[in-house]
Amino acid sequence: MGDPAKWALLLALSICTSVEGLGVNWGTMASHKLPPKTVVQMLKDNGIQKVKLFDAESSTMRALAGTGIEVMVAIPNNELAAMNSYQRAKHWVKKNVTDYNFKGGVNVKYVAVGNEPFLTSYNNTFDRVTFPALQNIQNSLNEAGLGDSVKATIPLNADVYYSPPDNPVPSAGRFRKDIGGLMTQVVEFLAKNNAPFTVNIYPFLSLYGNDDFPLNYAFFDGGGAAPIVDNGVKYTNVFDANFDTLISALKAVGYGNLTVVIGEVGWPTDGDINGNVGNAYRFYDGLLPRLASNVGTPLRPGYMEAYLFGLLDEDTKSVAPGNFERHWGLFRYDGQPKFAIDLSGNQQNKLLVPAQNVEYLSQKWCTLDPNAKDVTKLADSIKYACTYADCTALGYGSSCNDLDPSGNASYAFNMYFQTKNQDPVSCGFQGLATVTNHNISQGSCNFTIQIAAGSSVALGAKSLLAFLQFVVAVAMLLSVT
Ligand SMILES: *[C@@H]1O[C@H](CO)[C@@H](O)[C@H](O)[C@H]1NC(C)=O
Ligand SMILES: *[C@@H]1O[C@H](CO)[C@@H](O)[C@H](O)[C@H]1NC(C)=O
Ligand SMILES: *[C@@H]1O[C@H](CO)[C@@H](O)[C@H](O)[C@H]1NC(C)=O
Ligand SMILES: *[C@@H]1O[C@H](CO)[C@@H](O)[C@H](O)[C@H]1NC(C)=O
Ligand SMILES: *[C@@H]1O[C@H](CO)[C@@H](O)[C@H](O)[C@H]1NC(C)=O
Ligand SMILES: *[C@@H]1O[C@H](CO)[C@@H](O)[C@H](O)[C@H]1NC(C)=O
Repeated sequence: MGDPAKWALLLALSICTSVEGLGVNWGTMASHKLPPKTVVQMLKDNGIQKVKLFDAESSTMRALAGTGIEVMVAIPNNELAAMNSYQRAKHWVKKNVTDYNFKGGVNVKYVAVGNEPFLTSYNNTFDRVTFPALQNIQNSLNEAGLGDSVKATIPLNADVYYSPPDNPVPSAGRFRKDIGGLMTQVVEFLAKNNAPFTVNIYPFLSLYGNDDFPLNYAFFDGGGAAPIVDNGVKYTNVFDANFDTLISALKAVGYGNLTVVIGEVGWPTDGDINGNVGNAYRFYDGLLPRLASNVGTPLRPGYMEAYLFGLLDEDTKSVAPGNFERHWGLFRYDGQPKFAIDLSGNQQNKLLVPAQNVEYLSQKWCTLDPNAKDVTKLADSIKYACTYADCTALGYGSSCNDLDPSGNASYAFNMYFQTKNQDPVSCGFQGLATVTNHNISQGSCNFTIQIAAGSSVALGAKSLLAFLQFVVAVAMLLSVT
């Protein structure tokens, strides 16, 4: 094979390889959403073959049709009670799974029944309705003849299991006492249907919730963290320890072999002292090669199916858990990558492929008017802006925390102005604010411009043509040999 041919083959291969089974979470709690077709193109361009959704929105499903991408559709918590009716569950499955099950349709692989419904902070609100919903959905899938290829599962937070404070090792893992009986029923049902247990594991949250938590233990590079020794097994990172706590809890109820899928794992880049690009890079740079190498954990060696959280920043997510909630994306709100990382796990640090053809609002910012006279209402105005727009970058340890008080006000005003699509009325603030054409970004703090509504045309004829030309070129080069 000649050099150009070899090069072309390598190029073609490098486009196709990725961590086997790498998925991402695609959440849509954003004031300005990229069009679904644009997002699907991003998935394809970055070699992502699995996606986890939080609903089964039809525009999303249409965009995924024909791509072959494996999809986890979802039933939100507030619809679980309705799914306690078998007829209703059957209807959901028909409309949101079966109707897409044709050649060129959507490759649905899982139905997520609820989203972390047993979270401690929900005070057992969904305990009664979740298991019947799971049964009705899986039984409907089975009745529709899809039970072998589509599995119902419940994405659960890692707070459904624990190891006792007097023996805090993975092998002592048990399900939480208040839901012990319920978890046993859920696990039995999943096992009976060959469906996986889905768990969200966040080393960042272990760190966030605990001042004494050793930072290095949140990452995969050891970094000098003293290992936890458990029956001779050394744990040097909290991810493995947490995962194996689950395996022990499953073993304790007789299902130590149940398949486990990581529904969410990731690291935020802003909104907290530990939420930054450097730490996110360090986390993913450890996680991705591990997933690629199929090492697994001490109690569960081998392949692990995982969905990163998340694909894009979401500026309207609740900040009840913390300001970092709006900054989980590998990509910014506009589909621009935040850092270079090799999703294939080969540590090539390729810049991720951004969203194509994104259209932005005009190059206009809203700023504190330097000539503003009466500033007594300033604090109220900032508070108002930040109630309706995302100011989480202003907080302690975040990317805009260094701004002086006037920069702070401008940041808040601009975020509100952009959220309101640059409506001139939204840059008033009782005479305190004014529109400028100058980019008022400062240092690490980006004063962003929002994307235009209905922005971005999907893969146009032009890029399709370019792709075909590429395929032809590769074929020609190969035939030269
Ligand atoms: C299908 O999913 C969508 C989006 O999650 C939901 O609004 C709709 O009610 C579901 N359809 C049925 C028939 O339940
Ligand atoms: C759970 O209970 C706590 C304490 O009683 C309360 O503050 C919180 O609002 C409750 N949360 C929900 C989701 O009901
Ligand atoms: C779990 O899997 C292992 C290896 O495949 C097998 O030897 C063992 O019997 C299984 N245990 C159970 C409880 O099914
Ligand atoms: C900037 O605004 C944030 C959010 O309103 C506030 O927490 C912070 O104290 C302000 N900082 C300054 C320097 O004004
Ligand atoms: C504004 O300036 C910042 C810092 O130089 C830059 O990163 C950003 O891309 C600029 N924004 C626009 C919309 O040009
Ligand atoms: C600001 O935007 C530029 C690109 O416009 C990007 O390189 C930089 O990482 C961004 N900074 C933050 C803190 O988001």
